Amino acid sequence: MDEQGFRVRVATADDISSIMATERRDGFERLVGRWDEATHRAAFAQPGFRYFVGESAGRRFLGFALVRDWASPDRVTGIKRLAVCEPGQGHGRRMLRHVIDAVFRQTEAYRLWIGTFPENERARRAYRGAGFVEEGVARGNAFFAGASRDELMLSILRPEWLARQAL
Ligand SMILES: CC(C)(COP(=O)(O)OP(=O)(O)OC[C@H]1O[C@@H](n2cnc3c(N)ncnc32)[C@H](O)[C@@H]1OP(=O)(O)O)[C@@H](O)C(=O)NCCC(=O)NCCS
Repeated sequence: MDEQGFRVRVATADDISSIMATERRDGFERLVGRWDEATHRAAFAQPGFRYFVGESAGRRFLGFALVRDWASPDRVTGIKRLAVCEPGQGHGRRMLRHVIDAVFRQTEAYRLWIGTFPENERARRAYRGAGFVEEGVARGNAFFAGASRDELMLSILRPEWLARQAL
């Protein structure tokens, strides 16, 4: 738990409805992907996916992060999706910090990556603030709402994470 009483826990299947509601919040339709319940339940059951939820003392659900390729043999892990219920209050960045720590502490990952649409300035700022480095644009990398869109790729490597521990 951090100084604001914010903490991140591994999700349970009961969190899927809140995750789906968050994916569908007004204004998120151009920013974040969404899955139906069957797709979430299938992913949730896979060892390669790890679902995290942010919460505080008074609120059981403040947002979520879906991690893919958890503990993958090639030591590359990705954050598939991330969204908070109330953007702009620092919950996303705090969540990222916890998820990054979990990936590097609990697995042997060397690289953790995340992608965003380049115009999502709020996400870019949150990701850079958490230690991700922008790598470049992967053209047409996201098929989203029926169209292929460019995706800005960011990553943090284990040595960079370790260096931040010393700050
Ligand atoms: C992306 C997201 C997880 C970031 O979490 P957050 O809690 O909003 O992050 P923060 O409150 O720490 O804000 C991040 C930065 O964006 C800035 N910011 C806040 N609102 C902003 C806005 N409307 N436009 C641009 N920047 C904004 C903040 O000032 C902060 O920057 P700074 O620390 O350099 O000052 C969250 O905004 C979100 O869920 N957005 C909707 C879904 C989404 O875009 N998901 C990501 C898909 S890749």
